Amino acid sequence: STKMFTLLLFISLISLPICSPADRNDEPIIGVLAQEVVSPKPNQTAYIAASYVKFLEAAGARVVPVMINKTLEEYKTLFSSINGILYPGGGVSIISSGYQRAAKIFYDLAIEANKRGDYFPVWGTCLGFEQLMYLTSEKSQLSHTNTSGVALPLNFTPEAKGSRMFEAFPPDLVSALSAEPLTENSHQWSLATLTYNTNEDLKSFYKVLSTNTDGNTEFVSTVEAYSYPVYGTQWHPEKNAFEWSRPYIPHSPSAVRTTFYTAHFFVSEARKNFHRFQSKEEESKALIYNYNPVYTGNASAFEQIYLF
Ligand SMILES: *[C@@H]1O[C@H](CO)[C@@H](O)[C@H](O)[C@H]1NC(C)=O
Ligand SMILES: *[C@@H]1O[C@H](CO)[C@@H](O)[C@H](O)[C@H]1NC(C)=O
Ligand SMILES: *[C@@H]1O[C@H](CO)[C@@H](O)[C@H](O)[C@H]1NC(C)=O
Ligand SMILES: *[C@@H]1O[C@H](CO)[C@@H](O)[C@H](O)[C@H]1NC(C)=O
Repeated sequence: STKMFTLLLFISLISLPICSPADRNDEPIIGVLAQEVVSPKPNQTAYIAASYVKFLEAAGARVVPVMINKTLEEYKTLFSSINGILYPGGGVSIISSGYQRAAKIFYDLAIEANKRGDYFPVWGTCLGFEQLMYLTSEKSQLSHTNTSGVALPLNFTPEAKGSRMFEAFPPDLVSALSAEPLTENSHQWSLATLTYNTNEDLKSFYKVLSTNTDGNTEFVSTVEAYSYPVYGTQWHPEKNAFEWSRPYIPHSPSAVRTTFYTAHFFVSEARKNFHRFQSKEEESKALIYNYNPVYTGNASAFEQIYLF
């Protein structure tokens, strides 16, 4: 019976989860915010570009669409069910739209949660970056730049070294990012470095990790908040691996690794959050798998989009 005991002990030891520390969520679910379509049709009033979904899925997360026009209560329930949120790029108003309203609600909930020690990461890409700047400073003070459709190398600031965002990037990829045009810009508005430097709300909240210039105006291109897991890129990490309809999107191995390491970083942040759906049934009803993306090919800037 000692033998039996030893055997049982052995079996129970080898069946212990080897790598699931209590401080990591290995089933992260991330919300991706929808936005209004330009010309709505019945049942096609909002969309999410599929590349944002693939971006997160490629790094081990599942995705839930965050629909616009929901009630505050619905958003609160969703907030307590998901492990992070991504505000995609796009073309809606950052001052007044369904996208802005939902973004503000989740931003406020995230700040409040983080203050309580409930780690909830927020990511903004392009329009999402601009939305974050507006939410943090409660002001719109973007400058017009000639940056609609151009890949650029990042001008890293000294703060990039020691940043959370780039910590797990391989050094050769960081070098490539600073030397090669790997970050795709599709925006006409930017946060000028001068504006950032003279705005106390932005300056005290965000650390600038990189800048870029259109030749005339230097603008902030990557930020991370000092005290919160809030991150923004004016550039599009998701496009390099997943969008093909524009000639200026880079697809080199380093460009594709940029997609992956950026996603890996944000999903790692979401693994630090432990929100969960009330039930597996609620979870499966919410997942993006309930929707099918449509192929829009070169009729849009995206290969595939989800329409809601
Ligand atoms: C819109 O979607 C609802 C629910 O899925 C469906 O019942 C309705 O027929 C759809 N309407 C149109 C115009 O497609
Ligand atoms: C959201 O609400 C606005 C204003 O009521 C409306 O015009 C729009 O069609 C709604 N969109 C969706 C996706 O519900
Ligand atoms: C805008 O930038 C592009 C290069 O990305 C350049 O070819 C073009 O001349 C610029 N336009 C203006 C008005 O500066
Ligand atoms: C887009 O598709 C159309 C027809 O499918 C084709 O004629 C056109 O050359 C394509 N444009 C680009 C920029 O690929």
